Parts: sequence; C-alpha cells; structure tokens
Amino acid sequence: MKSHNLIRIAAATAATVVIVLFAGTWRTARPVQAQNNWANEDSLVRIGFQIAPVPLNLRGKDKELVGLGSYLVNAVGDCNGCHTGGGPPNFNYAAGGNPYFGQPAKVDPTTYLEGGSDFGPAVPPIPGVYPPAAYGDYVGPDIIARNLTPDKTGLPEGGHTLADFKKIMKTGIDFDKLHPTCTSPAPVPTPTNCIPPPVDGALLQVMPWPTFHNMTDHHLEAIYEYLSAIPCLESSPDPSNVLHNDCGNPKTGKSTTPPDARRKKKGGSNGL
Ligand code: HEC
Repeated sequence: MKSHNLIRIAAATAATVVIVLFAGTWRTARPVQAQNNWANEDSLVRIGFQIAPVPLNLRGKDKELVGLGSYLVNAVGDCNGCHTGGGPPNFNYAAGGNPYFGQPAKVDPTTYLEGGSDFGPAVPPIPGVYPPAAYGDYVGPDIIARNLTPDKTGLPEGGHTLADFKKIMKTGIDFDKLHPTCTSPAPVPTPTNCIPPPVDGALLQVMPWPTFHNMTDHHLEAIYEYLSAIPCLESSPDPSNVLHNDCGNPKTGKSTTPPDARRKKKGGSNGL
C-alpha cells in the first residue's frame, strides 16, 4: 500500500511538473509569436513578388516595401478590380484568363491600374430623394477610376508625392478637383461638372478611402513604393484627358511600359 501511495504521489508530482513545464512553454510562446509576426511579413513580401501581374522596376526601390505593397494591392485591396482599364467581358482579366468563366485567372497587364472603369453617378437618381428637386434629373458626372501607374518622373499615380498619396488614402481628398459640389442648380448647375449636394464633391466617391483610412503608415508607404515600381501606362493619348499619363518617349528608352502594354491603345475609352 505504502509503495502504491508513493507511486501515486510520484505520478501526481510528475504530472504537476509536466503541467508547470507546459504552462511555462505556453507563457514563453508569446514572444516567439511576436517574432513570427516579423517572419510573416517576410512571407507576405514573398507572396507579393509571386503574384505581381506585371514586371517590376526595382531600381532604387526598397524591395521589402515593394513586395509588401504588391501583397496589399493584389491580394487585399483589389485596387485593380476598380482601377483596371479593361471592360466586359473580361474586365481586369486577360482573354482566356477569366476566373468567373472557370478559366485559370490571369490579370491583364495591358490595362493594369490604368484607370477608366465607369461607376456611373456618385448617387443614382432616386425619385423624391436625390437629387434635390431644384436639380431636376441632373445627378452630375459619372465617377471614373483614375490612372494609378507612375509617369515618366517615376512618381506613382500621375506624379503624386508620398505625402499627397497618404492624404488621399486617409482623407479621400481629390487634389484634381474633378467634380466639385454644385453651388447653384439654375440656370444650369454650376460649377461645370458639379455634383448636387449632399454629396461632398471635394471627396473621392466610390474609392474606399473610409476603409483604407485605417491602414498603417507602413502599409501605405508599401503601396506607394509598389505603385512606383509598376510599368507606366499612357491610358488615353489625349493630354487633356484626366487618365492620360506621360510615360516619356519610348524611342529614348525612358518609358517603363513593357512592349506588350504599348501595343494596346484604348483611345480614351474604357472599353465598356
Ligand atoms: C471600389 C472601387 C475602388 C477600389 C477597390 C479602389 N479604388 Fe481607388 N479610386 C476609385 C475611384 C472610382 C476613384 C476616383 C473617384 C472620383 O473621381 O471621385 C479612385 C481614386 C483613387 C485615387 C486618387 C487618384 C488621383 O489621381 O488623385 C487613388 C490614389 C486611389 N484611388 C488609390 C487606390 C488604391 C491604392 C487602391 C487599393 C489599395 C484603390 N484605389 C482601390 C475606385 C476604387
């Protein structure tokens, strides 16, 4: 009996030791997990490089940021879902690469982030609700996604600085002032291209800045660095078109546009 008791006591003690040891490992597991988060960012960078659908110009760029930015743009933010220049039937996908047709997905590099998707008016007409009666059936211009590719200066989305870019993503400010709020409905809604209230025309419409607003500075910097590494797409050849981007003269070799992207010119149309 005595020896049985001893065995039980020994077993219980051993179990307690195991539990204490286990609890110890569990407690020390936390800092290890924190380290894993850094390792995870490395793996996001790797995935980012794997899924970038266009050749990247890494000269002078922070590669970690470019990779992370690609992950955020191509796996999380779906920027090209809206900012593609492609229209139906394949939209942002290449012919034969439309996943909604059961085909293996392939993003169309020739329209990648060049802008042009037409989302219609900021608020469609709703009888008795919008627009205010004085405006009749005038609801303002269609909202069109902009060209995010870098221009010949290498700065993304038509030459915006990092500070501007962060401000856009955090506040939705439209530096181009494309569609101000109407100040008067009659005799014609003014100023030109205005949107009737209560829409605040100084702010980007459709663009999910109220969500992107929550991103960290680090993540916004990564997106900016990635957007400066993608090829320039001219979009519209007409310099007065807001989608137009000056890629530099291809003959001087300054353009970062890959040859297959130059072949397809869309003449300002979004292809819809
Ligand atoms: C749901 C569609 C949608 C998504 C997703 C989207 N955008 Fe936009 N974005 C737009 C539209 C539309 C505009 C133009 C809005 C307007 O004219 O009022 C715009 C405008 C912008 C502008 C302002 C461009 C300029 O020249 O001032 C930037 C910068 C931008 N988007 C970046 C991004 C980035 C980066 C992502 C992904 C992280 C993204 N957008 C995802 C629809 C979208």
